[in-house]
Amino acid sequence: MKASTPQRYSPTAIALHWLVALLIVGTFTLGLVMTDIPGLTPTKLKYFSWHKWAGVTVLLLAALRLLWRLRTPAPAYPATMPAWQHLAAHGTHAFLYLLMFGVPLSGYFYTLAAGVPVVYFGLFQLPVLIEPDLALKPVLKAVHYWLNMGMAALVFMHVAAALKHLVVDRDGITQRMLPFSKAKEVQ
Ligand code: HEM
Repeated sequence: MKASTPQRYSPTAIALHWLVALLIVGTFTLGLVMTDIPGLTPTKLKYFSWHKWAGVTVLLLAALRLLWRLRTPAPAYPATMPAWQHLAAHGTHAFLYLLMFGVPLSGYFYTLAAGVPVVYFGLFQLPVLIEPDLALKPVLKAVHYWLNMGMAALVFMHVAAALKHLVVDRDGITQRMLPFSKAKEVQ
């Protein structure tokens, strides 16, 4: 018997997508705000801690998301969708998965290179995987910054494509990832 292709993403995939998206936007904004505060104030230190905890949470949820994605098939695209759009969508999604790991990991290793251990929610210390390294510190800081800028550009493209499918193409593709919406037949 042929396995049926789902018409929309599963409730778990949808929940993880929006939770990770919200956390990434919040962590990104907090990163820009905290690095803009001059000097070393208690507020700045508090924001740095929240930023690190939220970032580590993104890493954990990204791992869960990837595992879920590997064991649950995504709904197929409609046969009418051009091949270049398949390629663009798969490429953007693959890079977004890479950056969901790369961005928090670069921040984590930057913090360790600076000699600061990460104490998750102030409760327990996460593994110190590298020694403090003053030569590596500025490199990882730049890597964290540029991976973030790359991710911002990709998220912009991702949202623009979703809006085009929703408003211009009206092909039901965007609705497959929206909570509380009925996805249109796609095949
Ligand atoms: C989704 C996850 C993350 C996002 C979106 C993110 C985003 C950002 C952004 C936009 C900045 C400002 C960059 C700049 O203007 O120089 C920043 C800075 C920073 N991030 Fe992250 N980050 C994430 C995860 C992490 C993690 C997990 C850690 C450490 C555990 C971390 C540690 C830092 C530190 C220490 C800075 C300050 C850099 C400096 O010294 O100026 N980040 N982050």
